[in-house]
Amino acid sequence: MNDVAGAALELDDIQSGVLRPRPSPFAATYVIVRIDEAAAGRELLRRLASVVTPASATQSAIGDAWASVALTCEGFKAIGLPETSLKSFAWEFQQGMAARAQALGDTGESAPEHWEPPFGRDGVHLVLTGVAPDADQLEAAVARGRAAIADIDGVTPIWRQECHASPDETEPFGYRDGISHPAIEGSGAPASNPLEPPLKAGELVLGYLDELGGFAPVPTPDVLGRNGSYVVFRKLHQRVAAFRQYLRANASGPEDEELLAAKIMGRWRSGAPLALSPEHDDPALGADPGRRNAFLYREDDATGYKTPPGSHARRANPRDSAVAGYPRLHRMVRRGTAYGPPLPHGVLEDDGVDRGLMFAFVGAHPKRQFEFVQSEWIGGGEFLGLGDAKDPVVGEGGGDFQVPRKPIPRRLHGLPHFVVTRGGEYAFMPSLSALRWLAALES
Ligand code: HEM
Repeated sequence: MNDVAGAALELDDIQSGVLRPRPSPFAATYVIVRIDEAAAGRELLRRLASVVTPASATQSAIGDAWASVALTCEGFKAIGLPETSLKSFAWEFQQGMAARAQALGDTGESAPEHWEPPFGRDGVHLVLTGVAPDADQLEAAVARGRAAIADIDGVTPIWRQECHASPDETEPFGYRDGISHPAIEGSGAPASNPLEPPLKAGELVLGYLDELGGFAPVPTPDVLGRNGSYVVFRKLHQRVAAFRQYLRANASGPEDEELLAAKIMGRWRSGAPLALSPEHDDPALGADPGRRNAFLYREDDATGYKTPPGSHARRANPRDSAVAGYPRLHRMVRRGTAYGPPLPHGVLEDDGVDRGLMFAFVGAHPKRQFEFVQSEWIGGGEFLGLGDAKDPVVGEGGGDFQVPRKPIPRRLHGLPHFVVTRGGEYAFMPSLSALRWLAALES
């Protein structure tokens, strides 16, 4: 095992969903499948293995749509993966997300007992993700997929979530999302921040050297431990009306409202970073992939007069800021997509419609990447010297938020709970050779 130290990523064995940039705009769908019979689950994997496209492919196997497949720990059990192999996966993955609720801050309204079924219950076995340039092309691919599994007794799609991304990837609070991503050595994807050296491939894909000069622990046998990645799915409901009301109530006027919105996020809604445009929005900057992420914090904004250290983006990636810990070990590849219709512009009352973010993380280290950021940086402020101040956008609410300012800081108290977890699960995206191996498992 681990014979690929320093070797190029094996793009023809890695699922395209791990590395491939999505089309823009795009539609996405997440389907959860329950496996009631091991042989049926393996037959499904056999069929999916010919549909899932490798990262090296320039064309998809299913027209203009791209599919990826991931299994949960319960899913591996359901297809009959031996116990020794199950026990070799990352511990958090074996536990499942509901069991990690305390560590992840999924308490109160976000607690697993309030999650949308089937999350936190039985049957979350296999997660299929489909991505296409628009909803029609996606639906055509889904229809073909449905036909392909209709004759397999013992596997049942039990949940589906439609998602969409506009060309500017606006998320429900109204900010441009999908801007900042770490570059990965050997992936071919361009860096979003030219000042950040690419991460070692082993931060994203199992079986390669990582930032610590070693290898992430890998599941056995070897075929499972190479070219696969962990995936974290979370359905995050966003209280858009409450967010707008809060900004309105705490700002002195429309301009201040936008400034406050930017201070909370670390970016203006256009995507322009406070780091490069601290006084006013700059939509041209926000739309420019070459400039909008080209910054660090330490040299010209150590205190956070431009970008507050407690803002969502700066917490989630402090870059070169002086914080407890080493940010490069906690970088995240995000694949989130908005769901639900936007709340119409200017509306301050809740319309009762479910909207939010289907958050997805892909990486080799679910604990030191996703769980660390979620629990230490989003769920608290110790690392910043801010006590237990939580993330003002994504945190559990109730805390304070401080905007460094001269002569005295601006302080917001008792932040509401704007983002509620509706469910989620840890999964594993096997390589293409592992998919075929799993499909051929003996009972
Ligand atoms: C509904 C919930 C969330 C919303 C609305 C949201 C929104 C945003 C927005 C607008 C940005 C700036 C655009 C960009 O850099 O791509 C951003 C950045 C980011 N978010 Fe979130 N986010 C949410 C949840 C999360 C969670 C749960 C995590 C981690 C566990 C996270 C981690 C990050 C990271 C790592 C960045 C990039 C920061 C940087 O490199 O500058 N986000 N988010």
